[in-house]
Amino acid sequence: MVDRVSGRTVLVTGAGQGMGAGIARALAAEGANVAVGDINVAAADAVAAALRDEGHPAISVGMDVTKRDDVRAAIAGTVREFGRLDVMFNNAGLNKPMQFLDVTEDNWNLVMDVNALGVLIGTQEAAKQMIAQGGGGKIVNTASIASRQGYAEFVPYCASKFAVVAIIQAGARALAGDQHHGERLLPWRGGDAAVGPAGQGHGRHPRRREGGRCLRRLRLGGTAGPRRTGGGHRPDRGVPRQRGQ
Ligand SMILES: NC(=O)c1ccc[n+]([C@@H]2O[C@H](COP(=O)([O-])OP(=O)(O)OC[C@H]3O[C@@H](n4cnc5c(N)ncnc54)[C@H](O)[C@@H]3O)[C@@H](O)[C@H]2O)c1
Repeated sequence: MVDRVSGRTVLVTGAGQGMGAGIARALAAEGANVAVGDINVAAADAVAAALRDEGHPAISVGMDVTKRDDVRAAIAGTVREFGRLDVMFNNAGLNKPMQFLDVTEDNWNLVMDVNALGVLIGTQEAAKQMIAQGGGGKIVNTASIASRQGYAEFVPYCASKFAVVAIIQAGARALAGDQHHGERLLPWRGGDAAVGPAGQGHGRHPRRREGGRCLRRLRLGGTAGPRRTGGGHRPDRGVPRQRGQ
């Protein structure tokens, strides 16, 4: 793999299991300093400890992405350990499928808080740190094929993932002058040897929960404008035939 992230510092949220853990492992294997963020502190600790056992620089940072103070503290802890933040990977997300007519305010608010508000806060706080340290950075936000179309049992999830794309587009425009670059990740089909074991998370498609193929397409080390990645379909041709989230 090209030397994209060697010596750079990456904070991955939702990295205690699933795709986030796979992303953390893949980036560590490429030489990044990795901060493993998760609300499940024990899981984040375990992933970070396994990375250190393999000789990679890694710490765990307990954080709830919906709490601004937690996100600030996680970024501060990362900078304290590694000196700077080069890449913020806002990956934490969840889904609580519910029939359209049964969706409640609680269901809506939970999913929107983690998937949309959490990504907004993560993007804002990372950008502030990158501006303060000078020299740009990368912010990667995990979207979904559900950023492109509504699924009957996933209305809050789809709304939250559409929101992720809006946050990326608005953020990229707002921060363009500061040399920050938003990316969105559309992991509708996973399964790549570059990343570790799958989590037991929220999805109905456990085979699709590892992000190595998408990760390989990201240009984390350089500078690039906002772009989509993964999936292998062209936006002008509509959504691919495969079902996914
Ligand atoms: N798995 C899929 O098929 C799929 C498809 C498309 C998009 N995605 C997206 O990819 C991302 C990762 O999905 P996954 O399948 O690996 O999920 P997962 O459920 O396996 O892991 C999510 C992790 O996020 C953590 N988390 C949840 N709420 C949090 C919070 N408030 N603060 C911090 N951490 C929190 C969980 O503890 C968990 O470790 C999500 O954004 C998801 O929406 C997944």
